[in-house]
Amino acid sequence: MSDQPASKVAVVGENPRHIAIIMDGNGRWAQKRMMPRIMGHHAGVKAVRSIVEYCAKEKIEVLSLFAFSSENWRRPKDEVSLLMELFVSTLQTQVDKLDKNNIRLRIIGDKSAFHEKLQDKIRSAEQQTAHNSGLTLVVAANYGGRWDITQALQKIAAGVKNGDIDEQAISEQLINEHLTTADLPEPDLFIRTGGEERVSNFLLWQLAYTELFFTDVLWPDFDQNMMQKAIDSFKGRQRRFGHTGEQIIDKRIL
Ligand code: IPE
Ligand code: IPE
Ligand code: MG
Repeated sequence: MSDQPASKVAVVGENPRHIAIIMDGNGRWAQKRMMPRIMGHHAGVKAVRSIVEYCAKEKIEVLSLFAFSSENWRRPKDEVSLLMELFVSTLQTQVDKLDKNNIRLRIIGDKSAFHEKLQDKIRSAEQQTAHNSGLTLVVAANYGGRWDITQALQKIAAGVKNGDIDEQAISEQLINEHLTTADLPEPDLFIRTGGEERVSNFLLWQLAYTELFFTDVLWPDFDQNMMQKAIDSFKGRQRRFGHTGEQIIDKRIL
């Protein structure tokens, strides 16, 4: 077993390079206020803007946000279509701002399920911001961790079939290289708001050694102070990657 993942990640006391967030609790936030659930999603977009701004300011390299899971299609039709509309309008109004702030936007997930027009908008937003060198903002839309692993295996199988990939060369690294996050560092810190303590099919492969942070705060109430709390909690942790604590302290293995 190599030390490879350890050498790619942030060390104790440093900011996480990659933060992944399940933004949960929008619906309950609205329901508590006797408002329709979609109002919670609108309030959630405001929270996204504030957290993106914060991560850019703090020089976080990658922020991954779970916006719509492959299972969220199971919601009532009305909520799904309002969420799609919100996705389109947010994309439209925010891309120039992201671009101006040197932020690179990436959408991961099975985009083929989206309307052709939305797919075009996604492509042009990604192209417009592709050369930016600040924060990489990854939005997971119609994303599932199992889907990501499945599509990676499909590509690898095709490569084996046409002779581009030697069966013996299939390794963790090769699988990693075929995931939608291939060029990104692994998430250092995972945050889930809204009180549930589960991964809900987010970045399954990528989260293998990620530090987890759960909070009852509903996503629309998650502010920059809360984000700083999560980062501070991360900074105080010792990541061992299978080593002993003494090895980490004595030899500064990471
Ligand atoms: C998360 O908030 C946003 C999406 C899944 C799109 P929810 O809509 O899941 O909010 P709750 O969990 O019902 O409160
Ligand atoms: C996870 O939230 C997906 C997103 C935040 C986009 P859900 O609210 O859909 O998760 P479950 O169904 O409670 O696990
Ligand atoms: Mg939820």
